[in-house]
Amino acid sequence: MTGGAGPSRREWVAGAAGLIAAGPAAARAPLTAPPRGGFLWGTAISAHQSEGNNWASDSWLLETIRPTAFKDPSGDACDSYARYAEDLDIAASLGLNCYRLGIEWARIEPVEGQFSEAALDHYVRVLQACRARGLLPIVTYNHFTVPLWFAMRGGFEVADAADLFARFCARATARLGPLIGMASTFNEANIVLLRKVLPRFASDAAAANARAMVAAAARRTASPAFSSMLFGDPDRISAVMLDAHAKGAAAIKAGPGDFPVGVTLSMQEIQGVGPGHRAREAERTIYGGWLEAARAADFVGVQTYSRLRIDAKGLMPPEAGVPLTDMGYENYPSAIGATIRYAAAAIGRPIYLTETGIAATDDAVRARFIDATVAEVARCKAEGIDVRGYLYWSLLDNFEWTAGYAKRFGLVAVDRRTFRRTIKPSAHTLAAHARANRL
Ligand code: BGC
Repeated sequence: MTGGAGPSRREWVAGAAGLIAAGPAAARAPLTAPPRGGFLWGTAISAHQSEGNNWASDSWLLETIRPTAFKDPSGDACDSYARYAEDLDIAASLGLNCYRLGIEWARIEPVEGQFSEAALDHYVRVLQACRARGLLPIVTYNHFTVPLWFAMRGGFEVADAADLFARFCARATARLGPLIGMASTFNEANIVLLRKVLPRFASDAAAANARAMVAAAARRTASPAFSSMLFGDPDRISAVMLDAHAKGAAAIKAGPGDFPVGVTLSMQEIQGVGPGHRAREAERTIYGGWLEAARAADFVGVQTYSRLRIDAKGLMPPEAGVPLTDMGYENYPSAIGATIRYAAAAIGRPIYLTETGIAATDDAVRARFIDATVAEVARCKAEGIDVRGYLYWSLLDNFEWTAGYAKRFGLVAVDRRTFRRTIKPSAHTLAAHARANRL
């Protein structure tokens, strides 16, 4: 196993071997040159948010039941399950050298213990298509959604969930491992813990509505234990997910394949304000055991969107005068440098900025955010921090969870009826940085 190295020539060759091992169609795929310069430039996206019609997942039920916390159902999403080649063509045309994507557990194991070879074939084709375009595939094994059957039996709130996740990791790796460039078990493994710090500004009505949604799903499926990662009990979920990460990472590392395996964390800059502020306490709450878990991983994926200001009472509202993103939190790109420094000091493993981005109707705001991100990463590198990649969230305007389709992070607009992709000017801002490759 590689100890967290970037896409060295050795890894590229291992990937090429994987293409050949994957079968005759793959062997015919043209191999492009290895990613230049080592630094990874890319975009990130998840399966549920882009593929569409993920009807065997827990989220599909929660989006379509009443009451629901979701503004829109995911529906067809960006139809990327069918249109992945077009998406990859766009990413390659922008001069990027990696592509972070998810594989969907609910498609691969739609019924407990029943694995879909056809779904795995699909992801083999997607990963081959990445390789064929010189895009190192960075695979997320879980990005929030789980199979409905798994949520019905208690999701990550029951201890044996860790073994079921590890079994999925093993089965997926058996087919996909030879093609994978890098992998993470969980996306933002600590996401549930963030809810413990945010309640001061989540309205009681929204929280009650989310509880009613989960209760309705439990009734509809006759599953009193129904649990979904984004809405369940943070402490119980976290404990089981830590075990699931350890077991899942071991299963992935058992191969086949030879690539770094890490975990990505939601890392916002946490600023203490005023006497008796509780910023350090908030940090302990938000990261739980995940800093330690990340210390044992090949790399950590830092995912930063803004900062959190914490006073003696808890989370504060945005500061007057600081511009807001379309999500309603501060447009505050220097948080990116802050979290990279925090991760370097607290974790000490190679860092990839696996997500950062901005929901902005005005694309010029996004372009400036990208410039600011590159400047932050450049400063961190100049300080000697081992940052090895920057992946913008997201390639496409996609399903923004409970906020639905109105919040647009994409470098590329997607027509909701025809799925036509239109590249925005900010995509060329990222492309110019990737081509200059100054990091
Ligand atoms: C998640 C994405 C999400 C993005 C923007 C991250 O927390 O990984 O799924 O769309 O933030 O909100």
